Amino acid sequence: MNHDSNDTQAVKLTGEEIAKHNNRESCWVIVDGRAYDVTEFLPEHPGGPKIILKYAGKDATEEYAPIHPPDTLEKYLDKSKHLGEVDMKTVEKEEKEEDPDEAERQERIARMPILEQCYNLMDFEAVAKRVMKKTAWAYYSSGADDEITLRENHSAFHKIWFRPRVLVNVESIDLSTTMLGTKVSIPLYVTATALGKLGNPEGEVVLTRAARKHSVVQMIPTLASCSFDEIVDERQGDQVQWLQLYVNKNRDITKRIIEHAEARGCKGLFITVDAPQLGRREKDMRSKFSDVGSNVQNTGGDNVDRSQGAARAISSFIDPSLSWEDIPWFLSVTKMPILLKGVQRVEDVIRAISAGVHGVVLSNHGGRQLDFARSGIEVLAEVMPELRRLGLDNKIEIYIDGGIRRATDIIKALCLGAKGVGIGRPFLYAMSAYGLPGVDRAMQLLKDEMEMNMRLIGCSSVDQLGPEFVDTRGLSMHTTGVPSDTLGLDVYDPLVGPAASLRSKL
Ligand SMILES: Cc1cc2nc3c(=O)[nH]c(=O)nc-3n(C[C@H](O)[C@H](O)[C@H](O)COP(=O)(O)O)c2cc1C
Repeated sequence: MNHDSNDTQAVKLTGEEIAKHNNRESCWVIVDGRAYDVTEFLPEHPGGPKIILKYAGKDATEEYAPIHPPDTLEKYLDKSKHLGEVDMKTVEKEEKEEDPDEAERQERIARMPILEQCYNLMDFEAVAKRVMKKTAWAYYSSGADDEITLRENHSAFHKIWFRPRVLVNVESIDLSTTMLGTKVSIPLYVTATALGKLGNPEGEVVLTRAARKHSVVQMIPTLASCSFDEIVDERQGDQVQWLQLYVNKNRDITKRIIEHAEARGCKGLFITVDAPQLGRREKDMRSKFSDVGSNVQNTGGDNVDRSQGAARAISSFIDPSLSWEDIPWFLSVTKMPILLKGVQRVEDVIRAISAGVHGVVLSNHGGRQLDFARSGIEVLAEVMPELRRLGLDNKIEIYIDGGIRRATDIIKALCLGAKGVGIGRPFLYAMSAYGLPGVDRAMQLLKDEMEMNMRLIGCSSVDQLGPEFVDTRGLSMHTTGVPSDTLGLDVYDPLVGPAASLRSKL
């Protein structure tokens, strides 16, 4: 029978027929009501063949959707392998095992606090931790190794204190500024975070809508769950988006991505430079993103170790040989401003300036890469005086991200010379727990906090902020104690060993 997609209008495939192709020699899967022959694709699958084989002859949609943009099959699987529509009534529904975790989660969802009970960004995290699926929470919340950097990112802000001025007219406060030439209502952007659909079935477009409402920029991740075009299509009016780029070993693919982003109106290209290999995020690994992971080593034949969690499974294409020598090539293929995301020392900022890029993000990837990488805010405090000394401080735009949870954190970064800050997890948590209204409220809370704190520090607009408003002496000592941050501590999900995770299952 010829299943060419052209002649399947009338004849739909049946579940019974597909179920016959349930092995390595002939492997068909259903995604979104359509069947695909992925037999030859098995060895090429970046996530390894094993996970596909788990769904051989079956409907893979539920596992597939959060981690693959919808145009993936269109782009990567030859048309001859698109078998056509399936009569889903004929597909046997998998009897799902009763999952006690899921039943409890549903109970917690039913008892969720109303949105108006969230008064700060940590509150969203506290709710998300209780209502998100375990694997999604593990992917979003995890950091590398002992998660020292993850926690340091936020704690570092507690080592900086204000030196407010008084008796200044602060009746009206202007939070607006420009970032890469774009006028924004508050100096923050939604930074790139992969796999939005793990937290919300609509994925990253929810963040696009909130960013539009609040006139902030959204950075689109390479590894978004929605396709790049879906996220761009969601944009309205003069809304601005940037692209975060993981550089593919195949530079033709990289070039196509960049050109497409530019053609579709992206206004900045952020090349991630802190991830030649993805960090080991043990919470993510322990949550067993896919249950096939646990026996990969025993069965062999799968060159992607899925026991490493979601992160590793989706990132095998990233080029670890990327180096400074590649920068001129990037500058030659696009007119978009280029920024390096993940710079962590003053020497590299100076090198970035001489390489001719337009900016850097001082970032450690939200503590997900090198543990014991310093916080972005600490690196900023080191970088700016040196740039000023060399007369380079106006050469590029400097952004930071990592651990920003309060408007005072934003103000501290601006005082120290950042043009703006990126915020990652808090918006993911707000989206996962409450959808668009959650992200909307999170952004509004930051605006309200910022307006109040600008008033209290004695500045009516962000251009007035400068190093004279902060005391950074505490940053020089990593061991300096600060009063404990009870909100932060309350929501921090401590790492657990195998015994503890076993206990929680009992
Ligand atoms: C779930 C998650 C996924 C992320 N995915 C990416 C990514 O695909 N590319 C990237 O450059 N950075 C990624 N990051 C890092 C963020 O862009 C950013 O550096 C970090 O989240 C900032 O810290 P914060 O979460 O404390 O705000 C991710 C972070 C998280 C939490």
